[in-house]
Amino acid sequence: MRVQTRHPGTEARAGKFPGPSLIPALNAIQRRCGWLPREELVALSRDVRRPLYEIAGLISFYPHFRTTPPKTVQLAVCHDLSCWLHGSDQRIAEMKARYGDDVEVEIVEVSCLGRCDAAPAAAVDERPLSIADVDAAVAAAREGTHVDAQAQRGAEPRPNDPYAPGEERYRVLKRALAGELAPEAIIATLKDSGLRGMGGAGFPTGVKWETVAAQEAEPKYTICNADESEPGTFKDRQILAEQPHLVLEGLLLGMVVSGSEEGSIFIRHEYGPEEEVLREEIERLRELGLIGDDVSGRRLQVEIFTSPGGYILGEESALLECMEGHRGEPRNKPPFPALYGLWGKPTLMNSVETFADIPIILERGADWWTAQGIDEATGLKFFAVSGHVEKPGVYCVPGGSTARDLIALAGGVTEGREVGAIQPGGASSNFLGPEHLDTPLDWKPLQDAGSMLGSGAVIVLAEGTNLLAAGTNVLRFFRNESCGKCVPCRAGSTKAHAVLTDVLEAGGGVADVPHKIVELEETLRMTSICGLGQVALGPVLSVLGMDRGGAEAREHPKDG
Ligand SMILES: Cc1cc2nc3c(=O)[nH]c(=O)nc-3n(C[C@H](O)[C@H](O)[C@H](O)COP(=O)(O)O)c2cc1C
Ligand code: SF4
Ligand code: FES
Repeated sequence: MRVQTRHPGTEARAGKFPGPSLIPALNAIQRRCGWLPREELVALSRDVRRPLYEIAGLISFYPHFRTTPPKTVQLAVCHDLSCWLHGSDQRIAEMKARYGDDVEVEIVEVSCLGRCDAAPAAAVDERPLSIADVDAAVAAAREGTHVDAQAQRGAEPRPNDPYAPGEERYRVLKRALAGELAPEAIIATLKDSGLRGMGGAGFPTGVKWETVAAQEAEPKYTICNADESEPGTFKDRQILAEQPHLVLEGLLLGMVVSGSEEGSIFIRHEYGPEEEVLREEIERLRELGLIGDDVSGRRLQVEIFTSPGGYILGEESALLECMEGHRGEPRNKPPFPALYGLWGKPTLMNSVETFADIPIILERGADWWTAQGIDEATGLKFFAVSGHVEKPGVYCVPGGSTARDLIALAGGVTEGREVGAIQPGGASSNFLGPEHLDTPLDWKPLQDAGSMLGSGAVIVLAEGTNLLAAGTNVLRFFRNESCGKCVPCRAGSTKAHAVLTDVLEAGGGVADVPHKIVELEETLRMTSICGLGQVALGPVLSVLGMDRGGAEAREHPKDG
């Protein structure tokens, strides 16, 4: 049994009871009953000798757990930015008119489903689909005849894959296991390559690997963060579907270098089809003898941890809290996970894209990787492109490519319109005007322009879009997803959203936004403990700045 040690910043939190995580037990009840009946929870509390209020505290945190019986059919429709740009408000109203009085159908408006390329996105009984297919899926669900969604895979290999179709994979991992590629050499190559974390914060990957490898504490853990939940962001979903072998090879190399025996992939529960692909690949690895209790003399085990829901779990320390079985509230940092991670032990955590880039960097070398970028930029970069474009999708391009390049790849702006604004790095990045279409989508140029590379998601808004309403839509996402741990984020995002909604409902615009929004933005940026609260009002402020003739350069706080 794993026992939770108490660590800085978490001592006083509800639910901090020693003992194993109760999340698997709650998942099992919900799978069996379809919800969490009280008598089941009382029985669980008695069996595991943990107080009922701890269990209630867990359940109330995670949106996936339900305490009322579900209707026959669950219809979830996304209302976040990329879907909103494709008329989700209107489609949701239509759905409510059609199914609102239907005793068998429950309609829920939800945050980004990670299917922004199928906007407006929906899911019927957790099976993702485009809203155009909802009626058929609801009819099938009533009859209990679901059609399971399949992961979508592109036909073309991506340029970050060193393996030609049909070629034997896991070459780099095999060399590392055979001792032909020493951990020190791997770290040196990663450092030389300049690879930075693709989960948003951009921390140098080689330095992170070196730090975890240098820790003496045992055991160590390696985790792939596949929680991707920010509006407009779906590149990791596509990488998982198309390149599970690269993600797993990167993760296993991380385990070998850091000295971890246990690796995990923390994946959002809405990525069921992609989770299936991962499970198949893990099985393949087992058959190849590259996972198991004796892999060239070492133990390498990989598990999938399915998230019980919530954008905040993508924040690395909230993710760890969740895996330990607590409410997924971010920890105060430092200490960072590299030193004090899962179960208080050194933990190497990288995003899906970061891990997927590792094999080719180690196979072809740091010079090859850096040469892939344009001008000052290095390497290759995945972007999810959504919003007002003809062909929303995931594109892997040379680092330093511009929004203009990506919009061209995505078939141009819908109906031949002009660009009104872009969000170059997902919902948390500041909006930029069309004058930045030729700014390289890279760390420094975007920071200089007053935005950030963020989660690698370019959201395109055509001319004529109400940008204040778009910024308010983004703020609603952050308000809804705030974990509530700190007051400025919890209360400030609610207050700011109410103020902006009043302005919009009164037909007002940027000039009518009261100064207290600027003050609230500063308060949230300066006092929130994690990146969610720090950036929640940034996009709105950037819209105010644009109206004054250019994107106001607001420094983006850095998340570790
Ligand atoms: C609110 C919030 C949500 C985040 N969501 C994700 C996510 O879904 N996936 C991810 O890899 N990183 C996410 N991050 C960043 C992680 O905290 C962490 O920096 C990252 O997983 C480290 O991996 P990398 O170095 O490969 O980027 C999020 C950060 C914040 C503040
Ligand atoms: S900033 Fe918001 S999301 Fe982050 S810990 Fe505080 S309340 Fe939670
Ligand atoms: S699925 Fe709607 S914004 Fe992503």
